[in-house]
Amino acid sequence: MRGRGKLLVTGGAGFIGSHTVVELLQAGYEVVIYDNLSNSSSLVFERVSQITKIPVTFIEGDIRDVSGLDEVFTHHDFEAVLHFAGLKAVSESVQEPIRYYNNNVFGTLQLLEVMTNHDVKTMIFSSSATVYGSDGVVPFREDMCVSAPSNPYGMSKLMIENILSDIQKADNSWQIICLRYFNPVGAHPSGLIGEDPSGVPNNLMPFLTQTALGRRDMLRIFGDDYPTPDGSAIRDFIHVVDLAEAHVAALQKCQGGGCSFHIVNVGTGKGYSVFQVLRTFENINKVKIPFQVVNRRAGDVAVSFADTELAKKFLSWRASRGLDAMCRDSWHWQRKSPAGFKEPAADLVSDS
Ligand code: NAD
Ligand code: UFG
Repeated sequence: MRGRGKLLVTGGAGFIGSHTVVELLQAGYEVVIYDNLSNSSSLVFERVSQITKIPVTFIEGDIRDVSGLDEVFTHHDFEAVLHFAGLKAVSESVQEPIRYYNNNVFGTLQLLEVMTNHDVKTMIFSSSATVYGSDGVVPFREDMCVSAPSNPYGMSKLMIENILSDIQKADNSWQIICLRYFNPVGAHPSGLIGEDPSGVPNNLMPFLTQTALGRRDMLRIFGDDYPTPDGSAIRDFIHVVDLAEAHVAALQKCQGGGCSFHIVNVGTGKGYSVFQVLRTFENINKVKIPFQVVNRRAGDVAVSFADTELAKKFLSWRASRGLDAMCRDSWHWQRKSPAGFKEPAADLVSDS
C-alpha cells in the first residue's frame, strides 16, 4: 500500500525514530529521514530496508541548519513532520545545559520556522514523561500541572510543548500532537534494529542486555529503599514497536482533521519495578544477571506510570505488548547485534 503522503522524520536514524520509520513505511507512507547522526549510525537504514523491503531516503543534516532544511522542504512536498531529533541524556543535560537548550529548543524553533515558510503545519513531537517531575501523583495525567521538570532535558521538552501550544493558538491551521513517552524498551522482533547507545548505557534495559552479554560485570540497581512493594523504583516500560504504532495513530488522527494541539501520554498504564524487570528478563531469556544494590541515583522518582485513557479515546491506540515481549525482543536484538550497527547482524538458531 503506497501513497498515504510524504513525511519528514527528524531523528529517524535513532532508536525510536527507526522503529517508527518501519511502521510508517509498512503503513504506506513515503518517508524522508533527516538526521545529523550525532547519536546514531547510517547503517540502520540497511536494516530498515531489510525489514520493510523498501529503500529509505536519508538526508544527513542538522535541524539547526535553516538553509539545509529549507532545501529539503523545497525538494519535497511534506504533509507532516515527525520530530524525534533531540539530545536525551538527563545527566548530560545537567552538565551541559546550553548544548541541550541549543539543540532541542533552538533546533525545534528553526525547524518550525522552515515548516511555516513552506506551509507544512502538522507535527508529531517526541515529548517525555520526564516533564511530570517528582511532585505528581501517579498515574500521571496529561492535565496535571507540570511547571518544574528537575533537569534541563525535561525543561527543554516542556519549553517545546509550550512553544507548540502558542504557535497553534496563533494560527489554528496547525495540527500538533505531543506524545509524552514513558520508558521505551524492546526492539523490533526481527532483531535487526534496536537501541544502540554509545558508551556506557544510562538506561536500565541496555545495561541489562550488555550485562547478560558479559560486556558489563554487573547491573547496579539504584536503590532498594523506595516506598514500593520490593523497594526498587517503578516505571511504565513500553515496547518500542507499540510506541512506533502510536505515532501512526497520531498521524492518522491529524490527517483525519481531528486535531489542534494535544498532549497524549504513551505508556502501558502499568508500572513494573526494577527487580520485576530483572527477574522477567532472567526467566524469559534463561540467563542469569549478576547484580548489586547501590544507592539511589540522583534525580530518580520512586514511581512513574501513565494514565492512558486519553490515548485510548483520542488516538484509538493502546499498547499490546507486555513485559515478556519487551525483555525477549531486547535480548534478541542484543544477541544478534552485540556490536550494535557496527557489524552485520548474526543469524541465530532461534531466527530459523
Ligand atoms: P536517539 O538518540 O536514539 O535518537 C535521536 C536522533 O536524533 C539521533 O539519531 C540523533 O543523531 C538525532 N539528532 C539529535 N540532534 C539532532 C539535530 N540537531 N539535528 C538532526 N538530528 C539530530 O533517541 P531516541 O531514544 O530515539 O529518542 C527520540 C526522541 O524521543 C528524542 O527527542 C528523545 O528526547 C525523546 N524521548 C526518548 C525517550 C527514551 O527513553 N528513549 C523517552 C522520552 C522521550
Ligand atoms: N536503573 C538501575 N540501574 C541502571 C539503570 C537504571 O537501577 O543501570 C533504574 C533507575 O534508577 C530507574 C529505572 O531503572 O529507577 C529506570 O531507569 P532508566 O534510566 O531506564 O529510565 P528513567 O525512568 O530514568 O528515564 C527514562 C529516559 C528519560 C525519559 C524518561 C521518561 O532515560 O529520557 O524515561 O519517563 F525522559
